[in-house]
Amino acid sequence: MRRIGLIAGVVAVVAVWPMAVAQDMQHHHMHGPAAGAEQPQSGAAADPRDLVRLPAPMQEHMLANMRDHLAAVGEIVGNLADGKLDAAAKISEQRLGMTSLTQHDAAHLAPYMPQPMQDLGTSMHRAASRLAITIQDADVAPSVETMAAVNRGLSDTLSACNGCHAAYRIR
Ligand code: HEC
Repeated sequence: MRRIGLIAGVVAVVAVWPMAVAQDMQHHHMHGPAAGAEQPQSGAAADPRDLVRLPAPMQEHMLANMRDHLAAVGEIVGNLADGKLDAAAKISEQRLGMTSLTQHDAAHLAPYMPQPMQDLGTSMHRAASRLAITIQDADVAPSVETMAAVNRGLSDTLSACNGCHAAYRIR
């Protein structure tokens, strides 16, 4: 699992939050799927992330998905802390894992993303599905080892979030 950009990714998550409303005011002109990424501009405020332009409604949809991703991670950790491993596993699979792809309308969004970005998304969903199984295993056989594996799975999932956040922006 990619471990690059951990700090940058965390900063990206925190920094973009207040800007969610401002982007609503952007133009609503529709384009077909372009799936291109623009290279960062040079200059004083150079941002190392590639800009992927999405039609405004898609952008809103993706950011809403993102906020749900973070909410899901919070609920997973909360349920683990409460010893509710079964609930934590369900959230990991249904809200973040491969099962979540239909709910998040991924097939509709994916064509707008360059292939490496889609791949980063897929690796995050796979990591979350693996995490769900690891949590179920720990539920069946709780031990220091199985709980350590759960923490590793959480770390792998968050590394996948951060890998994409370090590489791409949509505004
Ligand atoms: C495939 C790439 C990708 C993956 C994987 C990904 N994100 Fe994001 N995320 C983005 C992009 C792009 C943005 C928007 C950055 C920008 O331009 O402001 C974003 C924004 C966010 C935001 C801000 C939402 C808002 O309303 O401003 C949160 C929170 C977030 N992501 C959480 C997560 C979490 C948690 C995960 C992992 C479980 C995750 N993301 C996985 C690409 C990704």
